[in-house]
Amino acid sequence: MSDNIRKILVTSALPYANGPIHLGHLVEYIQTDIWVRFQKLMGHECIYICADDAHGTPIMLKARAENIAAEALIEQFKQEHQQDFAGFQVAFDNYHSTHSEENRELATYIYRQLNEKGHIIRRTIEQAYDPKAEMFLPDRFIKGECPNCGAADQYGDSCEVCGATYAPTDLKNAVSVVSGSAPVKRESEHLFFKLQDFESMLREWTAKHVQPEIANKLADWFEAGLQNWDISRDAPYFGFEIPDYPGKYLYVWLDAPVGYMASFKHYCNQKNNHLDFNAYWDADSDTELYHFIGKDIAYFHTLFWPAMLEGAGFRKPTGVFCHGFLTVNGQKMSKSRGTFVTAATYLKHLNPEYYRYYIAAKLGSGVEDIDLNLEDFVARVNSDLVGKVVNIASRCAGFIHKLSGGTLADHLAEPNLYRQFVTAADPIASHFEARRFSHAVREIMALADLANQYINEQQPWVVAKETGQNTRVQEICTQGLNLFRLLILYLKPILPGIATASENFLNISQLSWESKDTPLLNHQINKFKPLLTRIEQEKVNAMIEDSKESLNVSTKTTDKPATNNPIEATIGIDDFMKIDLRIAKILKAEQVEGADKLLQLTLDLGDETRNVFTGIKTAYDPASLEGRLTVAVANLAPRKMKFGVSEGMVLAAGPGDKELFILSPDSGAQPGMRVK
Ligand code: MSP
Ligand code: ZN
Repeated sequence: MSDNIRKILVTSALPYANGPIHLGHLVEYIQTDIWVRFQKLMGHECIYICADDAHGTPIMLKARAENIAAEALIEQFKQEHQQDFAGFQVAFDNYHSTHSEENRELATYIYRQLNEKGHIIRRTIEQAYDPKAEMFLPDRFIKGECPNCGAADQYGDSCEVCGATYAPTDLKNAVSVVSGSAPVKRESEHLFFKLQDFESMLREWTAKHVQPEIANKLADWFEAGLQNWDISRDAPYFGFEIPDYPGKYLYVWLDAPVGYMASFKHYCNQKNNHLDFNAYWDADSDTELYHFIGKDIAYFHTLFWPAMLEGAGFRKPTGVFCHGFLTVNGQKMSKSRGTFVTAATYLKHLNPEYYRYYIAAKLGSGVEDIDLNLEDFVARVNSDLVGKVVNIASRCAGFIHKLSGGTLADHLAEPNLYRQFVTAADPIASHFEARRFSHAVREIMALADLANQYINEQQPWVVAKETGQNTRVQEICTQGLNLFRLLILYLKPILPGIATASENFLNISQLSWESKDTPLLNHQINKFKPLLTRIEQEKVNAMIEDSKESLNVSTKTTDKPATNNPIEATIGIDDFMKIDLRIAKILKAEQVEGADKLLQLTLDLGDETRNVFTGIKTAYDPASLEGRLTVAVANLAPRKMKFGVSEGMVLAAGPGDKELFILSPDSGAQPGMRVK
């Protein structure tokens, strides 16, 4: 093998630096990590690169909302992400950030190359603009009523209620999510990347380097015609300013994939350039480059990215490997059901290798979604890993220590059975190579069944007790442990932690692929410590409970029917105590120009007055409210609404519209008193 060492560079998609890593993301990072570990195990030079994707409007706005610098926000998430990945044994060779000098240099270099070669044009376009926040608005930052079904609170690109898609300008009563003001149309000049310049190259390249399902999808896109791609954004924007184009920034999706190169560059620099950046990225490079991604971002990786690389004179990927999305119990991950499980929450309750194994057992080379069925998860991990694999070692180790002083026999009892295990290495390796992990797992578990069958038939416990033939027992258990050793070797890319613990137990250095040919004989092993315990269903339940988003406990004054609402899930007293309820006196109640449902209230909370917008206009004549007492949530974060900032909430009951009833205290209560 050593004369055929491949040089492989592998990436996973760069997670956005504004949210936690969750079990959905981990499908990808575990898939990639298994593949990389497999390549390393085969003796190849394989480098696994990743980074945080740190730019764009959502990150800028999140930092603003938290009142911290964007740099501080992305640094925080980068640390958190790296910790989560390490917790799941995802072993990057380098983890960087797209907000880095390496990336600024490479992204602007690529932009300049594309520009010099005439692949960039300027066009003036009209976009939604928030006059109050003084910024252009991405579609996701505009909300309003669906033009099709009238549902309120829908995003600028599509309706979650009826599924209609439309332009943000079609929304009725649109508001900017940023400031609450109504967006206006405004013109601005943008830069466009002429994707069509690369059409023939892309048709040829995609035919050979993407999965068949993606190739089909691409055929549709080619059919529809490749569109120019808008690669610039107006200030304010968190990203890289475009050279010679003040006030304009590179769109996050231009510098994000360049982040792969930048992270690799950063890695080469750390190695004092013992690793040659150019050897991996030159147009005529003989190294391999693979990107693992989710199917949602195929367009960027199979069209824009290869075109950018080609245009700037770099090599193109050898393969882009798309995977499907994770569902939990057959449904999209959901915060209210508690199935939106973050990496950190999982790790509080469960061993990461359970999840690595389960995902591997389900992953194929295609783009189908994969389902985490929690019952199946518990059953499968317990039956396969604990019941079949670890069990072999625990059944054999005791006898070797008790009857043979911890030494294995000097020969195998069943060399043919051992050979059968060795012969399985090639098909297992080709399954790993082709990302058919579920097939690899199936083959390995079939071998585990054979090993257990052998031990069950030989019954070393009976031989030991009834015949006292200690050397026969040693023979059987030596055979069993040698089969166990090969199972662990084959599972090593999936279960690195258990593999290391097994190497310690077997008292051997790191298992290598070649070592499979030589059985472990006449060899001293260490005391057996349990390698993995069973998953307890209660721990899975606790993880789900822990993932349920705290429910909104205040009574909403909305127009949604609310009769016969079931009582919500219980909350602890601590949660309740967080809500600061106060007696409030309504000093003023006024109509709000242009609003159908809102009244503007001025509340006296004892020490201060507050301005609150509340949807009770159809139920109350404003004059009748002035002077009366009610109950208000005093510590609700101020919310920007279309008509101004609302600084609290008054409590009311009822289904809404005309049937709404404001709560009142008994006489004697004073404004500002805390409600307990
Ligand atoms: N920042 C971009 C990628 C830029 S790559 C140059 C991005 N980030 S992400 O955080 O939204 O997603 C990171 C990866 O996780 C993507 O490949 C995405 O497809 C994958 N997944 C996110 N949610 C997922 C599931 N629920 N299931 C499986 N993969 C998922 O996209
Ligand atoms: Zn709709």
